[in-house]
Amino acid sequence: MTSHNSAWLKEHNTAYIMHPMQDPKALRDQPPVIIESGDGVHITDVDGRRFIDCQGGLWCVNAGYGRKEIVEAVSQQMEKLAYYSLFPGSTNAPSIELSQKLIELTAQEGMAKVSFGLGGSDAVESALKIARQYWKLEGQGEKYKFISLYNGYHGLNFGGMSACGGIAWRSSYEPLMPGFIQVEGPHLYRNPFTNDPEELAEICAQLMERQIEIQGAHTVAAIIAEPIQGAGGVIVPPASYWPRLRQIADKYNVLLIADEVITGLGRSGALFGSRGWGVKPDIMCLAKGISSGYVPLSATLVNQRVAKAWEKDAGFTAVYMHGYTYSGHPVSCAAGLAAIDIVVKENLAENARVVGDYFMAKLLELKDKHRAIGDVRGKGLMLAVELVKDRVTKEPFGPDDAYPVAISEGCVSKGVMIRTIVNKLIISPPLTFTKDHVDEVVEALDKTFAANPW
Ligand SMILES: Cc1ncc(COP(=O)(O)O)c(C=O)c1O
Repeated sequence: MTSHNSAWLKEHNTAYIMHPMQDPKALRDQPPVIIESGDGVHITDVDGRRFIDCQGGLWCVNAGYGRKEIVEAVSQQMEKLAYYSLFPGSTNAPSIELSQKLIELTAQEGMAKVSFGLGGSDAVESALKIARQYWKLEGQGEKYKFISLYNGYHGLNFGGMSACGGIAWRSSYEPLMPGFIQVEGPHLYRNPFTNDPEELAEICAQLMERQIEIQGAHTVAAIIAEPIQGAGGVIVPPASYWPRLRQIADKYNVLLIADEVITGLGRSGALFGSRGWGVKPDIMCLAKGISSGYVPLSATLVNQRVAKAWEKDAGFTAVYMHGYTYSGHPVSCAAGLAAIDIVVKENLAENARVVGDYFMAKLLELKDKHRAIGDVRGKGLMLAVELVKDRVTKEPFGPDDAYPVAISEGCVSKGVMIRTIVNKLIISPPLTFTKDHVDEVVEALDKTFAANPW
């Protein structure tokens, strides 16, 4: 519990914290809401205002707030053993139990081994390093390049950032790492090719193939992509795209990395996004929902094919020279076990599918009523409402336009916490959301759009 009042916290927040992805001027002009507590799908700020959380924290609080099972698992583990490492000579029981649980959950995908980290950026960094080392162990160290997609987001460490497919995430830190290339992914609402989903998927698949051929397949380590792009604006590929990525990876002998940081653990309506597309990746990156955001945790899973490369007696070259002090932290892993248990036992993936379909139908009704809504898209409980100045030209609102902020602030004033990424309202609530919660959010959106006609 903080001993400081709301005014003190606001002043010192602005003064001292470098907020991620935040323009400092905007931070001064519009200080953020300071969240103090959470219960179920609701959060309350330091001024006592209560909101329904349409963000799920940051796409992560899958099990909802205040889950005693996770709190107790964490506190019991802290009392028993607060810390011990996975570095040479030691390990700890919760990390072993969680690794077993993850391999059991991904038996269908044939996953075999787990590398732990603390967040999505770690999970991606680990995947990239594993892919490079894999090819070295296979005697093909010249396969070092990664191909990712426009609008893809893979975290902000140097490797993941180099794979990001948007200039906004990269420009302040260039030059980035060599060997990272992006190609067009299937964005149905905004692409120069076609409005036909399957045709678009095929065009983009062929662009991927062409890029691998241009680079030379003998230089490409892996394709990395999100089963559904999140931060890029909830871009759902046509159903045939991921199966085509798998075919292409097999054809050119490159690995397929599924960045499931958002889609993992139920959010897209399947337990894993790639499973939703019927695809088995070689490497899966999990974070966010793996601990429902209660503590920092991530896991990078590799399948049997990849894991086998480390089984050769290759001496020093087979040392997995990667990991952190807190890889496999016992408290994080205890939280992970409890959070996953909730997602599985309560079948939250299925709830995300059912409630997500309902949400989508309601948002489409809103689109019929309000001209500023250019597109509504999503899968499960990851949805986006894209705001445009003109439906015909699809001219988007830009970062300097006040309209999207007015909409999100209108929602906040009605007790609905909703996030905007430039011109997109992003919806990713806890997976315990019900249809009644959806009705509440849609009513707030409806009233806000009606009060701000475009
Ligand atoms: C697909 C994807 N990968 C990686 C990351 C990075 O995760 P983190 O912010 O936990 O480092 C994110 C974060 O939103 C993400 O959405």
